[in-house]
Amino acid sequence: MRIVALVSGTGSNLQAVIDAVAAGDLDVEIAAVGADRPNTGGVQRASAAGLDTFEVNFRDYADRAEWNHALTQKCLSYAPDYVVSSGFMRIVGEEFIAAFDGTYLNTHPALLPSFPGAHGVRDALAYGVKVTGCTVHVADAGVDTGPILAQRAVDVRKDDTEESLHERIKVQERELLIEVLADLASRP
Ligand code: GRF
Repeated sequence: MRIVALVSGTGSNLQAVIDAVAAGDLDVEIAAVGADRPNTGGVQRASAAGLDTFEVNFRDYADRAEWNHALTQKCLSYAPDYVVSSGFMRIVGEEFIAAFDGTYLNTHPALLPSFPGAHGVRDALAYGVKVTGCTVHVADAGVDTGPILAQRAVDVRKDDTEESLHERIKVQERELLIEVLADLASRP
């Protein structure tokens, strides 16, 4: 099963996938790792692992539609079975969703549909929930919406900060993403 991974940040979730593939624990080919901005940790990690990388920098395009078109074409050029957003912080447009209908996966550090958006951990903490977690879902054209594939719960501790809670969530999130990819790769 071939995937293209999309990142915007440190890429620690992606690193878990890279490591699982390298260890022979995940029968997935990472065809390429792409970012929407320069110098991401995710692209640096991919390069260090000898993977093909690309950048479709949002700031290089006149508008969102042009950027979306360029990203869609770039991802299509690898003919992936799935595109996996792993900390990718841009909302893709209809053209991308149409091109990867049902095969664009996203991970989110909250129990969707609760706390969607760029600050799911901060919002859950601020709300005062006692349990939050992470979600892997098929992304549609909305913000962190689409059919849920898997979730894991993470207890919120009294002394949690956004950072401490997010790091604990990411431990679960990485395992959950690998579980989902392994399940998809095992299907005929
Ligand atoms: C992950 O929790 C992801 O769900 C969220 O941002 C975090 C990315 O972390 N969108 P990293 O870049 O994989 O370290």
